[in-house]
Amino acid sequence: MKKLILDLDTGIDDALAISYALGSPEVELIGITGTYGNVLLDQGVRNALAVTDLLGHPEVPVYKGLPHSSTTDSFSVLDISAFIHGRNGIGDVSIPDSPREPETGSAVDFIIDAAKTYGEDLVYVPTGPMTNIAAALAKAPEIKDEIGRIVLMGGALTVPGNVNAWTEANISQDPEAADALFRSGARVTMIGLDVTLRTLLTYKETARWRELGTKAGTFLADMTDYYIKAYETTSPHLGGCGLHDPLAVGVAVDPTLVSTLALNMKVDVAGATRGRTIGDEKRLNEPATTTDVAVGVDVPRFLDEFMTRITTLAAHAA
Ligand code: BDR
Ligand code: CA
Repeated sequence: MKKLILDLDTGIDDALAISYALGSPEVELIGITGTYGNVLLDQGVRNALAVTDLLGHPEVPVYKGLPHSSTTDSFSVLDISAFIHGRNGIGDVSIPDSPREPETGSAVDFIIDAAKTYGEDLVYVPTGPMTNIAAALAKAPEIKDEIGRIVLMGGALTVPGNVNAWTEANISQDPEAADALFRSGARVTMIGLDVTLRTLLTYKETARWRELGTKAGTFLADMTDYYIKAYETTSPHLGGCGLHDPLAVGVAVDPTLVSTLALNMKVDVAGATRGRTIGDEKRLNEPATTTDVAVGVDVPRFLDEFMTRITTLAAHAA
């Protein structure tokens, strides 16, 4: 069985990513490492603990990661993030705090230890800024060859960004970290806006969760309705909300959900296009590619997997 680490800035689609992972018998969620982005680090960690409890999985350890990029002194949540995810990150829905605390060890050391313990069997899925994995690779560069696969949510190759015309939110928070990851030699699959804005959820699906009558079903429905409503303002042309982070988990579980382009990637870290994810012209002719960029997705199959797994989980949780 594959071992999974989710590295989350636990907002709404991150919470749906947790749900997808916990609803997937093919993988064992061995830990969540916290990052910043949709919310501050501490709020994201609080949300990860509370959501795993509510979904009936208090055994999942949660680690605190780094609170901001290495190129900044601090981090503040963008207004647009608070608008899309709510002030508390989970659609301003109130759920009980977990009685648990985050683990005492650091997220960076947990990632390094897991790479050494599980090697090929480890899939690491970052769905916020790449700050923690970049720090882990800086501390223990050899893990690039040890981690089985990294499936990241972030970037945009064939479509515009969502922060501005060329950058996506997770990459924009720490372009240097994402660039270091792409250049590290680790095996990476990039799940960017190219595919995540094709996998959309509507009120029709969230109604199914509410009808379950469980606390978990009601929470997922209320939280996701907040997100769908925000998308009605920010992206009315889509007709639903983007399932960014759950798609990365879906691909971690079953890589055949997407078609990919093998391309050595880089992130622009200077100049007007800072934060752009694009092919690295200097490594274009290298015989080996380490990054696969998702450019196509089997939308009906993913949505079916998404609904089946999460609805089953929510039906049997509290
Ligand atoms: C990404 O940014 C965050 O707001 C979401 O959780 C997702 O990981 C989408 O650009
Ligand atoms: Ca996220």
